[in-house]
Amino acid sequence: MDAALLNSSLHSLPLMARGKVRDNYAVGTDRILMIASDRLSAFDVVMGEPIPGKGELLTRMALFWFARLGHVVPNHLTGEAPESVVAADELPQVRGRAMLVKRLKPLPVEAVVRGYLAGSGWKEYQESQSVCGEQLPAGLKNASKLPQPIFTPATKAEMGEHDENISFEQMAQQIGRPLAEKVRAVSIHLYEEAAAFALTKGIIIADTKFEFGLDEQGTLTLMDEVLTPDSSRYWPVEGYREGANPASYDKQFVRDWLEQALVNGAPWSKTAPAPRLPDEVITRTAEKYREALTRLTS
Ligand SMILES: Nc1ncnc2c1ncn2[C@@H]1O[C@H](COP(=O)(O)OP(=O)(O)O)[C@@H](O)[C@H]1O
Ligand SMILES: [Mg+2]
Repeated sequence: MDAALLNSSLHSLPLMARGKVRDNYAVGTDRILMIASDRLSAFDVVMGEPIPGKGELLTRMALFWFARLGHVVPNHLTGEAPESVVAADELPQVRGRAMLVKRLKPLPVEAVVRGYLAGSGWKEYQESQSVCGEQLPAGLKNASKLPQPIFTPATKAEMGEHDENISFEQMAQQIGRPLAEKVRAVSIHLYEEAAAFALTKGIIIADTKFEFGLDEQGTLTLMDEVLTPDSSRYWPVEGYREGANPASYDKQFVRDWLEQALVNGAPWSKTAPAPRLPDEVITRTAEKYREALTRLTS
């Protein structure tokens, strides 16, 4: 395995943007080289230490899902090797962890699908028996499976901000109703197929977030990463119990540790910089990402 990568630095391509996890480089005007670093974000703050192997595992998982779900909607993969657009000395930063994709016009919304009540959904349900304005039956508990998956879009937040839930109506106003309806239908279809498959492998995908863009012909295209533990809540079936807060597959060690960490004697404020992660938390988190991929693909 190549060394852990916190920040990529290619000299042969212009850097477009560094996201929380991925570094995007322009390849001409119509393609992007997306490098998944080993950065980990928790509570929307990027940790200072890399999780070795994470970028490669995320990439393999996204490629696995793109292949499995290709019949539902076109995706941004070009099919070309990322290694073909960088210099020889840059190969270690790219190998196994990059995707060469079509540069799309991103839709300004995150397409969230929820099959279970968790996180902000559970919070809202307790207050109003609804999630993002969708009325739900009474009597649901924390982590309850919903009668059917619901589509709950969110705005795309700027770096360092939190995404904000919006109603379907707001989304329809932003991108037009026909497109909004298509995004909703495709997202629910993708989620249902993925969740059913994952369940046969002992993983509950409680919810997930898709990103879409339009290509030059205006075709709705699935982009970014898909159905990784970074964009989804993965719960191991064996730990699942309605009414309890299920342990998330991957970031639970980090979150638990951060919740009790002290910075200058006080709890961490959940703003950057994050406290330094202990080696054990790093190792166990890396193991969890590996386990998720192994489960899915074996
Ligand atoms: N095919 C594509 N065309 C244009 N932008 C894309 C494409 N695929 C992904 N992106 C964007 O690339 C970025 C990926 O970096 P990431 O680390 O996930 O960022 P973030 O911190 O916003 O989650 C996101 O802003 C995503 O919207
Ligand atoms: Mg992202």
